[in-house]
Amino acid sequence: MDGRLITVEGIEGVGKSTHLDFLRRSLEAHGITVTVTREPGGTPLGEGIRALLLDHRHDDMAQDAELLLLFAARAQHIARVIRPALAAGHWVLCDRFTDATYAYQGAGRGIEAARIAMLEEFVQGALRPNLTVLLDAPVEVGLDRAGRRGPKDRFERETVAFFERVRQGYLARARAEAGRFRVIDADRDLAAVQAALARVLDEFCRRSGRGVGE
Ligand code: TMP
Repeated sequence: MDGRLITVEGIEGVGKSTHLDFLRRSLEAHGITVTVTREPGGTPLGEGIRALLLDHRHDDMAQDAELLLLFAARAQHIARVIRPALAAGHWVLCDRFTDATYAYQGAGRGIEAARIAMLEEFVQGALRPNLTVLLDAPVEVGLDRAGRRGPKDRFERETVAFFERVRQGYLARARAEAGRFRVIDADRDLAAVQAALARVLDEFCRRSGRGVGE
């Protein structure tokens, strides 16, 4: 299996979509076939589950129901999109993955990491990202940017304290798995963030034997 799974993480408003697009273009410039996808979502079933998860009318959703819906969407995504793409040698660029569950449902909501790990094992087997880019910015900066995007979904309605726990949850995972994570300071102008992303990708492509000209 020649494919790679690259995930992009961060709290709301850190510029994930813009940076994801930059990463896709950079990988394609390396001659790599890229499948871009997202969680929750990435399949028709997963997008249906996403709509349920984000709908603010489900404000009484139980924490375990939320967790299981995320993993149900993930199971479908892995079976129908991620594994087939990896098997075809594509590099999968995924907007959020299981680190988001550890950060939002674990650190944010307070679900024990061991319970998330059980589901991770059950749904993913040995599948883990090869590289995770964590776009990091102060919560106020992210929420301010996200707030300008229109009506708030069920997650965006959470408190600043919730997002602070999510941010710290992500940073703790990045420290614990320093080999897989690269943390990028996203509280800078676009050119500076993109230069940092380009360095991370260059290093990763080289490690993967896909350096420029190889
Ligand atoms: P998005 O803002 O990246 O489109 O993601 C939608 C929301 O889903 C975002 O607020 C974070 C949340 N989320 C979780 O809470 N847990 C997860 O495992 C994933 C993938 C997303």
